[in-house]
Amino acid sequence: MRLLSTSAHDLELAAKAIREGLLVAIPTETVYGLGADAWNRVALARVFEAKRRPSFDPLIVHVAEPDGASEVADVTVPYARLLADRFWPGPLTMVLPKMARVPDLATSGLPTVAVRCPASMVARQIIRLAGVPVAAPSANPFGYLSPTRAEHVVAQLGDRVDYIVDGGRCPVGVESTVLDLSVDPPLILRPGGLPVELLAEAIPGIQVFDRAVSSPTAPGQLPSHYAPARPLYLVAAGGLGLARPAGRAAALCFGAASARAAAASGLWDRIVDLSPESNPIQAAAALFDVLHELDAAGLEQLWAERLPDDGLGRAVNDRLYKASVK
Ligand code: TXA
Ligand code: MG
Repeated sequence: MRLLSTSAHDLELAAKAIREGLLVAIPTETVYGLGADAWNRVALARVFEAKRRPSFDPLIVHVAEPDGASEVADVTVPYARLLADRFWPGPLTMVLPKMARVPDLATSGLPTVAVRCPASMVARQIIRLAGVPVAAPSANPFGYLSPTRAEHVVAQLGDRVDYIVDGGRCPVGVESTVLDLSVDPPLILRPGGLPVELLAEAIPGIQVFDRAVSSPTAPGQLPSHYAPARPLYLVAAGGLGLARPAGRAAALCFGAASARAAAASGLWDRIVDLSPESNPIQAAAALFDVLHELDAAGLEQLWAERLPDDGLGRAVNDRLYKASVK
């Protein structure tokens, strides 16, 4: 594995490597992705192998320009163009009917393909220079925490990737919102970096996948996912005072009042406040970073409280819930 910078020279190298069928971890505004040429079946197979990802879990295909989506998907379905105009480049993934030339390996044999035009200028430049759409799942071993820094990719995938482009910390910090436009009404499969409320304004009648009433159809909906190695216990907002941690434990708080209460209780070896200003955008940006750090800190348990379930709070709660299921 070789670490690259975001210099023009290094981005050329990264793009060339993708064209040659190699695996390149690239920064996006959400999390780092493990990129490969979406037309190259061998490269796609290597992505699954590197991640130890089951082949039934399809990849997101990334394009440099919103218009590029029509190369891989049918963008004439209702709402696709409207949403691309409004939210791309950005943290929205649309599931659309796929073009025949997209390899089945990228879509796990589904008739649909997940497409995203990321906001990250570094990601877009690499894709542009590569001249091919880039299939990229999050650059973590299957089921583990997504990487928000190049160091996370080095630690988790290291020699299983050819290059890692270090673009610093990912500003959004949680993965894209995945919206299925191949069904009527459109269905949000995974809450993420684009708030559900903004999509609901654009699509009257939009549905949100609810694990209480439906069984998963996409693997990102599997309950156990995005998980740290330590057990994580999730409690209601403001509920950390009722926690009964055993052994060395950390509390993940949301907001200064909650952090103060946790400190006063004397129960915790570590207290981390995801956002002293109770801002869910800040909490999302910090989430995986904090979980990576706490996971390596020699603690026995992590306890977290839920955020209010709106804006990016919904995405954070979804990741905390999935991290809490073993
Ligand atoms: O922000 C992100 O989305 C990041 C960056 C790298 O773009 N990528 C990411 O990829 O999170 P991944 O592979 O970790 O998650 C993709 C999700 C999975 O839950 C997968 O099941 C779902 O998208 N997905 C992909 N193709 C699909 C399809 N055709 N139908 C339904 N779900 C699909
Ligand atoms: Mg992932």
